[in-house]
Amino acid sequence: MSKIYSPVLKTQPQRQNTVAAETQQDLLGTSISVRFLDSLKSNGKHKYARYRGLPLRYAGGKSLAVGYIVEQLPDRLEKLVSPFMGGGAVEIACAKELDIQVCAYDIFDILVNYWQVQLSRGSTLAEHLEQWQPTKTQYAEIKTRLKAHWNGESLISDPLELAAHYWFNHNLSYGPGFLGWMSKIYESPERYSRTLQTVRNFRCPNVSVHQGTFEDTLPMHAEDFLYCAPPYYLDEGEMFKGIYPQRNFPVHHKGFNHELLRDLLHQHKAGFVLSYNDCQTIRQWYADFRILEVKWRYTLGQGETRIGKNRIENGTGHVKKSHELLIVKDA
Ligand SMILES: C[S@@+](CC[C@H](N)C(=O)[O-])C[C@H]1O[C@@H](n2cnc3c(N)ncnc32)[C@H](O)[C@@H]1O
Repeated sequence: MSKIYSPVLKTQPQRQNTVAAETQQDLLGTSISVRFLDSLKSNGKHKYARYRGLPLRYAGGKSLAVGYIVEQLPDRLEKLVSPFMGGGAVEIACAKELDIQVCAYDIFDILVNYWQVQLSRGSTLAEHLEQWQPTKTQYAEIKTRLKAHWNGESLISDPLELAAHYWFNHNLSYGPGFLGWMSKIYESPERYSRTLQTVRNFRCPNVSVHQGTFEDTLPMHAEDFLYCAPPYYLDEGEMFKGIYPQRNFPVHHKGFNHELLRDLLHQHKAGFVLSYNDCQTIRQWYADFRILEVKWRYTLGQGETRIGKNRIENGTGHVKKSHELLIVKDA
């Protein structure tokens, strides 16, 4: 494994879009991805705005990074494989906005069940959720039921029922987090009904989501272009804490085999875009690839434990610049 440190490119190279496929061009010859990136451009401090319209909030979700990641995808990409679906920001943007077929996986069976129900029966899921009120009492009932399922004490066998429990518990929580605590701002009935509209109207036929670990799924996709958003690498200092599926029991995060992912990606024949937290180990492991530094704002959800003195004093709370790397192997 190469241990050579490679300097980070500070500016991101522009993609060449001049040869986009006919089907991917409008009458002016502009490719779908160029138009999409234009629509995401922000007038603020950052180049791109958040990608909106996702039905699920997710800790460590990449909705603010979608523009930067799409910039790195090859032109005329027809299929994308994602081993780490989570909230699926990039996956959904690619499928909906760029007409790419997306095959996604995640280790977390309850999350995968939610996506399967959301993608196939979003309006039925919304109808189910409409029966519930966004109150602390309702939240406690749903959480108790979901916890019994997670512990294996009493399983929720109906996929629709389980998806509704997962979405309600997760989306209305602080963080957000699985089996977390209800956030005050989600007690608003107006907000609840607006969010249910997104669940009801969400359509994304180009995405399929399956349960699976990257250890099993990556070898099945040797020829496919990958987008990989693994859990953050935790072993350097105490800056991040495991968060999947929950910060108090990060069983999908703490033992994550980053070394195996590194080895599988080094063997991967097709290209990939990989997002990671910026740290020396990751820079060294992936020094053979193109490494881009990207910055966007994120909140406590990513599991950061270190809150700087300045942020406490100036009241900026848990909002901090993210320092994330995009590691690219061109196709
Ligand atoms: C950073 S999140 C993905 C974020 C996602 N791209 C988004 O925009 O919301 C990482 C995901 O990896 C999943 N995960 C953890 N260990 C895994 C493994 N061994 N195989 C597959 N998925 C795993 C977690 O359940 C979590 O959903």
